[in-house]
Amino acid sequence: MKKNILFQLTGSIACYKACNVVSRLAQEGFSVKTICSVNALKFIGKATLEGLTHNPVHVAAFEEKFALEHVEIVKWLDLAIICPATANIINKLAAGIGDDYISTTFLAFDFSKPYLIAPAMNKNMYSHPATVKAVKTLEGWGVKVLGTGVGYQACGDTGAGRLLEPEEIYGKICEYL
Ligand SMILES: Cc1cc2nc3c(=O)[nH]c(=O)nc-3n(C[C@H](O)[C@H](O)[C@H](O)COP(=O)(O)O)c2cc1C
Repeated sequence: MKKNILFQLTGSIACYKACNVVSRLAQEGFSVKTICSVNALKFIGKATLEGLTHNPVHVAAFEEKFALEHVEIVKWLDLAIICPATANIINKLAAGIGDDYISTTFLAFDFSKPYLIAPAMNKNMYSHPATVKAVKTLEGWGVKVLGTGVGYQACGDTGAGRLLEPEEIYGKICEYL
């Protein structure tokens, strides 16, 4: 039986690339639920993710219907991923903050299951001491922080921090399941 994937998106220009991963997972028969940070919805629309997954998109932590969903969803999932993961969410998770749906779910996470993070950010954000330290902290807790591509960035810079290509991310998800 195909597994359950919790796919979480944060506010990066790479959200459009992440939609290809969601599409691939759905086509392969995985059951996919998505959570978007409020800022992710500035880059893509709910309708795209709902259309791809046939499931509603979760956004805020305190939507009435989803009051205890951050605990329930952890029981439901076989693998969680943040893709794309901003510098903000990486630093927030490493600090143990739970002030939105994604970070609250992380605090409720059962680490016998895989939790993947696919970073996407400007090269300076990626090499910032806070981000470097946060990645190490998360890895120490058992989170699988994926690498990044190196190359052209939307801001015009060139360097590390590009989201991996959708096929590579799909491959990592299958590897860790
Ligand atoms: C056009 C634009 C592109 C952005 N791209 C990124 C990005 O790729 N990675 C990143 O870490 N932040 C990026 N940011 C900044 C984040 O959106 C910002 O830090 C935001 O607070 C992240 O919120 P979230 O982590 O809750 O989604 C971008 C901002 C803008 C306006």
